Amino acid sequence: MKCNVILCPSNIEELYFTGKTVVVIDVLRASNTIINALKNGAKEIVPVGNVEFAVKISGGMFGGQTLLGGERNTKKIDGFALGNSPLEYTEDVVSGKTIVFFTTNGSRAIVKAKFSEKLFVCSFSNLSAISKTIMELNTDFEILCSGRNNSFSIEDSICAGKLIAQVQTLTNNIELNDTAKASFMLSKSYGTNLLKILKESEHGKLLMENGFEEDLNFCSKLDENEVIPYFSENVIKLMPVDKVSSKKKTN
Ligand code: MLT
Repeated sequence: MKCNVILCPSNIEELYFTGKTVVVIDVLRASNTIINALKNGAKEIVPVGNVEFAVKISGGMFGGQTLLGGERNTKKIDGFALGNSPLEYTEDVVSGKTIVFFTTNGSRAIVKAKFSEKLFVCSFSNLSAISKTIMELNTDFEILCSGRNNSFSIEDSICAGKLIAQVQTLTNNIELNDTAKASFMLSKSYGTNLLKILKESEHGKLLMENGFEEDLNFCSKLDENEVIPYFSENVIKLMPVDKVSSKKKTN
């Protein structure tokens, strides 16, 4: 299996992803918000690339069953029901709901990779589940780090490196490109204190300044769940592990 890491989406064309298996990472915080929303029973997440489109499509959806969620500069957007704190996406709020979701980097990275054959959303919290899925698929894969403002972000790259390390515990048959090797080395050198890594990251510092320190605790949890967010036909839904295996057989 070949593994390529893309350190941020800005220099890559949408069509590059056509037919590929892609894992999108936005540790702070979009991945964790998506994972928690699905874990708490959200029907689906509709990732969008801009706020105007989010407002437009949510207007055409059934009232009450659709919520607008996301952020600008880390804060809830005017007129949106929810921000981008994973802690807001509780069962009583999101169960059964469609969430139209815009974030500065994470939702846009997913939209950019929309032509992927298979697209999964990953963070530290579902790392083992995603690595098992990749292993079962036994296919080349891309790890797309959402990065920060069209640039590198250390937490996403470290998560990519840890995902690679986890896949390597399952197979020796993995060939890394240069950025995959660099991410792997970075994750090794930073060690296992994920909360410290997040607190010392640029985006982590901004989140703390804006009152979201609890989110850093939440986003630093490793292998907390088996949630596999899977993007297909413009929406992200929960995909049980057994479904991924059967998908492999039928494709
Ligand atoms: C993003 O997608 O840019 C992030 O999730 C920003 C945030 O922390 O809200």
